[in-house]
Amino acid sequence: MAKAFRYSAILLCVVIVLLFSGSEQLQSSQGETLLRIQRLLNYPSALSSWNSSIDFCNSEPNASVTVVCYEQIITQLHIIGNKGTPLLPRNFSIDSFVTTLVGLPNLKVLTLVSLGLWGPLPGKLARLSSLEILNVSSNFLYDAVPSELSSLTGLQSLVLEDNMFAGEVPNWIGSLPILSVLSLRKNMLNGSLPDALSDLEDLRVLALSHNYFKGEVPDLSSLANLQVLDLEDNAFGPQFPQLGNKLVSLVLSKNKFRDGLPAEVTSYYQLQRLDLSNNKFVGPFPQSLLSLPSLTYLNVADNKFTGMLFENQSCSAQLEFVDLSSNLMTGHLPNCLLQDSRKKALYAGNCLATGDQNQHPISICRNEALAVGILPERKTRKASKAIIAFGVIGGVVGGIALVGLIYLAVRKVKSRNAFKKPTTRLIAENASTGYPSKLLSDARYISQTMKLGALGLPAYRTFSLEEVEEATNNFDTSAFMGEGSQGQMYRGQLKDGSFVAIRCLKMKRSHSTQNFMQHIELISKLRHRHLVSALGHCFECYLDDSSVSRIFLVFEYVPNGTLRSWISGGHARQKLHWTNRIAAAIGVAKGIQFLHTGIVPGVYSNNLKITDVLLDQNLVAKISSYNLPLLAENKGMVGHGTSSGASKDHSLGTRINQDEKVDVYDFGLILLEILVGRSLTSRNEVDVLKDQLQASITSDDAARRSLVDPAVQRVCSEQSLKTLMEICARCLLKNPADRPSIEDILWNLQFAAQVQDPGRGDSQSSEGSPVTPDQRPPLHITIH
Ligand SMILES: *[C@@H]1O[C@H](CO)[C@@H](O)[C@H](O)[C@H]1NC(C)=O
Ligand SMILES: *[C@@H]1O[C@H](CO)[C@@H](O)[C@H](O)[C@H]1NC(C)=O
Ligand SMILES: *[C@@H]1O[C@H](CO)[C@@H](O)[C@H](O)[C@H]1NC(C)=O
Ligand SMILES: *[C@@H]1O[C@H](CO)[C@@H](O)[C@H](O)[C@H]1NC(C)=O
Ligand SMILES: *[C@@H]1O[C@H](CO)[C@@H](O)[C@H](O)[C@H]1NC(C)=O
Ligand SMILES: *[C@@H]1O[C@H](CO)[C@@H](O)[C@H](O)[C@H]1NC(C)=O
Repeated sequence: MAKAFRYSAILLCVVIVLLFSGSEQLQSSQGETLLRIQRLLNYPSALSSWNSSIDFCNSEPNASVTVVCYEQIITQLHIIGNKGTPLLPRNFSIDSFVTTLVGLPNLKVLTLVSLGLWGPLPGKLARLSSLEILNVSSNFLYDAVPSELSSLTGLQSLVLEDNMFAGEVPNWIGSLPILSVLSLRKNMLNGSLPDALSDLEDLRVLALSHNYFKGEVPDLSSLANLQVLDLEDNAFGPQFPQLGNKLVSLVLSKNKFRDGLPAEVTSYYQLQRLDLSNNKFVGPFPQSLLSLPSLTYLNVADNKFTGMLFENQSCSAQLEFVDLSSNLMTGHLPNCLLQDSRKKALYAGNCLATGDQNQHPISICRNEALAVGILPERKTRKASKAIIAFGVIGGVVGGIALVGLIYLAVRKVKSRNAFKKPTTRLIAENASTGYPSKLLSDARYISQTMKLGALGLPAYRTFSLEEVEEATNNFDTSAFMGEGSQGQMYRGQLKDGSFVAIRCLKMKRSHSTQNFMQHIELISKLRHRHLVSALGHCFECYLDDSSVSRIFLVFEYVPNGTLRSWISGGHARQKLHWTNRIAAAIGVAKGIQFLHTGIVPGVYSNNLKITDVLLDQNLVAKISSYNLPLLAENKGMVGHGTSSGASKDHSLGTRINQDEKVDVYDFGLILLEILVGRSLTSRNEVDVLKDQLQASITSDDAARRSLVDPAVQRVCSEQSLKTLMEICARCLLKNPADRPSIEDILWNLQFAAQVQDPGRGDSQSSEGSPVTPDQRPPLHITIH
């Protein structure tokens, strides 16, 4: 009976929402513009349901069409046709099309993908002066990129992929002040790149693959935020580009790079993907690349890398794919590649002594190594023995030399960080002049980079109330897990057998489902390896006025307890070892980084606690409770950004900046507990510890160890402990501005993992300890 009643309530709720959501009508001229666009595009099937009686602002978005309005003015338009859509007919005029488009003058986001658009892109597109994201991928646009676009000073993403644009990359590109994504992949652009690219300080993604570019890549080392560089399939070279060391993905394959790799490459601690295949690289292959802590994909196939590989070389725990094929390497494939079935390794076409993939006799590699001239040509024949010897031991000597250089790189980065503003800053300040909630609706734009951190979770979906009830056995008390500021939590099991955690949020009256859709969409995009991610949601409505009574958010279930229970929980459970503690801290920091910069605007003030960090079966840390935008909504803060409790006279920019540092402080508390290994409950206790920590940093190793959890006291290396203590102390500084950025934190944590020596009896150190004892640098890091 009760169930039947519930259903009719929901049904009624849906009907009422449908009836009333159309009450506010879109300004009619904009509706006409959309209908004209439909006609100019020759009535594509994606727009089949558009007609004069449709309420565009309240129509349900789907994968091919989305219209977003802010106060009944269209701010976003996405039309995505079928892949492989042919050219529009002869009577199509790109000029009339763009003339029509500029009838939507408030557009901030414009996506017109796979629609068969053809012709030269008219410069008058720049009349859309509020544009922040422009994506016209997979059409047939040709000729030069119009120079008028240089006036779009708010542009953050310019995506012209998969068209037929020709000519050179214009110099004015450097004058777009906040450009963060530039993708010109798959066009017919040529010439060499302008030096002006190095002015794009905010650039995160630069994708230029599959064009006809040539020549040296300009110096990009000033682009401190560059995370993705894709130059595949051009004719760049011969010198390896100069780059900052924040790179996450670096693809240089199918070019004309010829010189050796610079030592800095082994300091790219955040690098996940490195593809150097199909070039002409010479010189010793720095095998320490294999142990870069974040690396998952390494491809150096089809080059002329020389050098000897050693069985005892360690590999990054993350590494999944390695291709060393068709080079001139000798020695033995590292055991870590052979013995770990999760790592796929290809190495045919070298001169390795390792058996089962086709190898050349060692003389071939030696002769060819001589032929490609590892050393300058003026060396006489006498030197040839030395050359071979270099080829053979190059890996080892090179490795040691590289570590020294890493040290230099560390210092350089640290001093640079001291002056560099955090990445989010400009976006934040931009937001202060705009409309927070408008920006909020743009939050769906998660950069490609950040997606690299996403997991193989099922697609986000809507759950039915019935499903939620069944999963929790009708919210049985045995399924109840707890209650916090973010509602009650229930454990559940879905029909397919998978476990989920269901958060139940009671809503104040008066909001319809429509009010929540933007937030739900944001939540659906908050997916990351280090966040407990949402799988879907379900609305329950009041019978009388159709407003939402409860929202159920269905999350992935993380089975292995809280981080606290592994550190200081006093359970019978084994305490977490040192390297796993660092790995957990790195995980939390990556989760925070994603919340801050993975989406625009970021999610701040997450009130992070060690009890809200969960570990999964592989001890991967996941933040389970972050600042869900729905909660702000519930407190009556609709449309005021994501931050809570901020006073009106603060600009949004300053607020976000402070909120960012609030999370850094909370992270410091988590790190402190990880270090000392006991629950920290009072403010006073924290203050006392903080002072002790600060004092011990300048004292000796013994003093520092005396502060640390006895369970790990003897296994942590001196440098790794000191690095962690220093970063922890900085996170807890009183003045938010003095606290480090999340990038700085991450860098230091990864460094601490790197210098932790696996030989100290830390038996769980299967990951994150790639530096071998004799390579450990004798270094010091100073705090700023
Ligand atoms: C273009 O021509 C087609 C017929 O080939 C016609 O159906 C369509 O309406 C024309 N479109 C425009 C914008 O004139
Ligand atoms: C507009 O489309 C809807 C369905 O998408 C249909 O019910 C309605 O009759 C159409 N109106 C007109 C005027 O064609
Ligand atoms: C998406 O929505 C548009 C109108 O908003 C409609 O014409 C189209 O058929 C829908 N596409 C899918 C795949 O549902
Ligand atoms: C451009 O839009 C298409 C369709 O939404 C999307 O698949 C693609 O990832 C976008 N490109 C970029 C670089 O954001
Ligand atoms: C680049 O392409 C344009 C047009 O396709 C051509 O006119 C020009 O000569 C090319 N420039 C170079 C440097 O090849
Ligand atoms: C690896 O083995 C080689 C010789 O087999 C040896 O010279 C080198 O010191 C070893 N390296 C480490 C880190 O154990």
